[in-house]
Amino acid sequence: MIEISGLTKAYGDTRVLDGIDLTVADGQIAAVVGPSGAGKSTLARCINLLERPTSGSITVSGQDLAALSGKQLRLARREIGTVFQSANLLRRLTAAQNIALPMRHQGVPEAEIRRRVGDLLERVGMLQRANHYPSQLSGGQRQRVGIARGLALQPSVLLSDEATSGLDPDATRAILDLLTELRDDLGVTILVITHEMDVVRSIADHVAQLDHGRIVEQGAVADVVRRSDSPLSRALLPMPTVPAADGRRLWTLRYRGAVSPVWLSHAGRDLGDIAVLAALVEESGDTSVGRLTVGLDPRLDERRVVDVLADLGLAAEPVTSLRAVRAESAA
Ligand SMILES: Nc1ncnc2c1ncn2[C@@H]1O[C@H](COP(=O)(O)OP(=O)(O)OP(=O)(O)O)[C@@H](O)[C@H]1O
Ligand SMILES: [Mg+2]
Repeated sequence: MIEISGLTKAYGDTRVLDGIDLTVADGQIAAVVGPSGAGKSTLARCINLLERPTSGSITVSGQDLAALSGKQLRLARREIGTVFQSANLLRRLTAAQNIALPMRHQGVPEAEIRRRVGDLLERVGMLQRANHYPSQLSGGQRQRVGIARGLALQPSVLLSDEATSGLDPDATRAILDLLTELRDDLGVTILVITHEMDVVRSIADHVAQLDHGRIVEQGAVADVVRRSDSPLSRALLPMPTVPAADGRRLWTLRYRGAVSPVWLSHAGRDLGDIAVLAALVEESGDTSVGRLTVGLDPRLDERRVVDVLADLGLAAEPVTSLRAVRAESAA
């Protein structure tokens, strides 16, 4: 569990982080998004203790990191593994040697190191490439080795700072699946820093938007995508353009979570014909995320539409005018 409270980081007179409050529960995946320069990497560096916060507290697994020094600090560092965008592998070391490095620094016995390196290589699907040097690996493979190295000291928290940036969609998918697997199998708490909204949609439980060193919006992804009037919600699920409504009444529907994939036909039994005019729907494991504009019979009672859809797990809201939808989709 990571608990950040009132975290401030200043360089000289410039406050790069300004009163950050963020909690990531055990075994959760949280995403921090935000524009370049917002302070995302600084936040990561404060959590993994590469930077000292100016004020505020960061508690990892019940331990207040700011209060530690010397040996305690070195011990606490082991609780937190980090993966960076460029994986930062040492060129002269093989994949296996890179993964072994943090354990060597900590004086882990050689036999134990060999065993754990084998396990980690297997876990990240790199056993066949154990003796390859970084220059002989693809970007996605280097990231896997970086993740294995981040896990070498069996941390309870894994920080990923743009670990999938610059990877192609398949390699990104493979890394995201790996992160989800680590969370599910090892119970690692994961903080993902990213500018890619599809990464957030597909793996995060919680999302926080950072801007100018402050969290301007945050919440469970399932809740945020259902918010009707929120910049983060629109960024997470941008709305496609809506064609003419053809005499029907326009509604916006949002959902995320265990919604039946056949909710549309269920809803149709109660609400009659449903014209799907625009939709963004993604399935990922047992979770689906969707945002749609649909046209319904204008004679339907508003309350009833909301209730029927709420029973199926969708938030529904009538669209006041087509212009409003277009304005929203353009935002
Ligand atoms: N050591 C430092 N000294 C002074 N200013 C710094 C230092 N490190 C970061 N900054 C400033 O802090 C701000 C936030 O930087 P940070 O690297 O955290 O942004 P970011 O959100 O990770 O951006 P990006 O998406 O481009 O990686 C920037 O304006 C940066 O110039
Ligand atoms: Mg950064």
